[in-house]
Amino acid sequence: MRVVTLISGRGSNLRALLEARRPGGALAGQPVEFACVISNRADAAGLAIAAEHGIATEVVDHRQHPERAAFDRALAERIDAHRPDLVVLAGFMRILSPEFVRHYENRLINIHPALLPAFPGLDTHARALAAGVKLHGCTVHFVTAEVDAGPILVQAAVPVRADDDPARLAARVLVQEHRVYPLALRWLAQGRVRVDEHGVARVSADTGDADAALVSPSG
Ligand code: GRF
Repeated sequence: MRVVTLISGRGSNLRALLEARRPGGALAGQPVEFACVISNRADAAGLAIAAEHGIATEVVDHRQHPERAAFDRALAERIDAHRPDLVVLAGFMRILSPEFVRHYENRLINIHPALLPAFPGLDTHARALAAGVKLHGCTVHFVTAEVDAGPILVQAAVPVRADDDPARLAARVLVQEHRVYPLALRWLAQGRVRVDEHGVARVSADTGDADAALVSPSG
């Protein structure tokens, strides 16, 4: 499975994916090849992470393409040069046009820092705290034209603590992001994922401890 990853910034999810190839990691021994990392910003810290791991990097600067459609076309051209089976958004902070999304239907995934369909969009941790939810988390999903709304591959939940602030909550969610994103790639590489006729992603995954319930407050 040839993967092109798109980033805009820090790149901690990218790092988690690359490190998951190490012995014992979710991607160890899996047929996953990271062909290229593309950023829309030349100063994205994640580009150095890619380089450290010997992965080719490219920049497609959105400021050189003021129109969204032109940027998306330039981006798709660079992506397609690597003939990817999967395009992975890892903190890529641009909204993609319906044409772009359609071009990568069922091979474009994203990680979102909330338990979708709750809290699509930005500032998810502050909004979760303001809503008083007792569980929060992250979601890996296929990308569709509607933002943060595509078929869900995997989610992880964390308890919300009484003394949380957005930064503390974000840090605990991020630990789970780094755990589930490699899992999603593993299942895709193994051909265990299909999207059914209702637009629901069905994953024949290892059951693991998936029956364990996370209750918060724990009482
Ligand atoms: C993550 O919280 C991810 O869920 C969101 O953007 C952030 C990217 O962080 N889509 P990083 O660049 O992977 O560290």
